[in-house]
Formats: sequence, structure tokens, C-alpha cells
Amino acid sequence: MNVLKVKNYDEMSEKACSILLDKINSVPHPVLGLATGSTPEGLYKKLIEEYRSGEVSFKDTTTFNLDEYIGLSMDHPNSYHHYMKDHLFQHIDIDMEKAHVPNGDVTDVQSECKDYEKIIHENGNIDIQILGIGTNGHIGFNEPGTPFTSRTHIVNLAESTRQANARFFGSIEDVPTRAITMGIETIRESKEIIVLVSGEKKAEALSRFINGDVSESFPASILQKHNNVTIVADEAALSKL
Ligand code: GLP
Repeated sequence: MNVLKVKNYDEMSEKACSILLDKINSVPHPVLGLATGSTPEGLYKKLIEEYRSGEVSFKDTTTFNLDEYIGLSMDHPNSYHHYMKDHLFQHIDIDMEKAHVPNGDVTDVQSECKDYEKIIHENGNIDIQILGIGTNGHIGFNEPGTPFTSRTHIVNLAESTRQANARFFGSIEDVPTRAITMGIETIRESKEIIVLVSGEKKAEALSRFINGDVSESFPASILQKHNNVTIVADEAALSKL
């Protein structure tokens, strides 16, 4: 894994933006894997700026988001559908038919998982996947203990994840208990992976991610075995290495 050290959150976002622009401008029909959470917000802001200044078009881009809560409607302010629309999609020229986010508001969630996996494969898998990392090492919503061979599936969210995400909801009780997430194997099939890590609260996780054993108890550790991973991390996140 290649580690790119940057000063702070802003530089991390800047770097991630330029990596994505290079990809979008060099592949005829780029397939991007996108993440939610606080970490990629700065990246999305910069992509919008680049779009507005005519540096990039998303017309030929297909996107797949990592995950979505089960039980929230698409227009719920805390759904990842809403997050993506708000932070990126409504500001750029992407064809919304090609902007995929798992739908957690369906009766047959199992079929939704299968279909999601199928569309990713039909699009030739992801060219470049953006990832954040949970403090417990989760990627997407793949919590500790998830098999490395997992495909898009339903997860029960760890209490620590619900607590970490409660800041976006009124209270912990309002945070859904289940989610759909791309599986670890699905993520591993991405041709290139960019992991964004910022802030001291991720320092412990980043240190274990880079130097710890490869183990299902720390999902991100499997990326040590991927041949094209770049970690873009700021000084605070790197403070425990
Ligand atoms: C969330 C998301 C992940 C995200 C991670 C870190 O629960 N499901 O995709 O990468 O946790 O979030 P944040 O960037 O807000 O720290």
C-alpha cells in the first residue's frame, strides 16, 4: 500500500480530487466507487468546483455507492441517497440513471443486494473506489467479523458504528440497526482503491490498518493484499504510526 502524507483535511481532499480527475479524464467510461460520511465531504466540494470551472464532466461516469441504511426512504435527510444528492449529484452533470446507491427502502432487501452486485459486474467492476475507514476498521458497513469473501449483503450495525453516526441523527435510537453494504470481496475487485483518513480519532485505526495483522476482526486489513491501494492521510491521522 502506498501512503501519501498530507498536512490536513483540506490537502487530503485536494489530493483525492486530483486523483479522481486524472481517472475520469483518462478512462472513456469511468466507474467510480463512492463513500459517505464526513471524510469525503471536502472531496465532493472540490469535485463540484472543478466541474463548475469546466475541468471535468461526469456525463460518461457511472458511480456505485458503498452502502445505505435499511428502512430509510430515499428522501430521508439521513439516507445516503439524500447525502449523495445533496453533496454531489445535484451539482454536477451526472446521468442519475448511472448513479447507483443501494436501495434500503424495499421489501425484498436480499434481491436488492443480488441486483446491486450484478450491476457492478455488468459495468466491468469499479475503476477507482473511494473509501473511508471506521474507528473499528470497518469499510463500507462491513463490520469486524465480516468474511473477506462477502458480496453485497445485509449487515447488523455495530453499536459503536451507530454511536459514531448518531451525530447525524437526533439520537442513537433514530439510527437504523441494519444496512446494505457492498461486500469485502466486491470492494477488493475494484481496480484501484483510495482510502481517505483524517484526524486524530482515526489514528489508532490507521496504525492497525497499516501495520496490524490481516484479520477479519479488522476488515480494512485485507487491503494490505490488494495491489493498487493508496492511503491519503493527514498528519493527525498518522500521529500513531
Ligand atoms: C460510515 C460509513 C463508511 C464511512 C465510515 C467513516 O459508517 N458507512 O462508509 O467510511 O463510517 O465515516 P466518517 O468519514 O464520517 O468518519
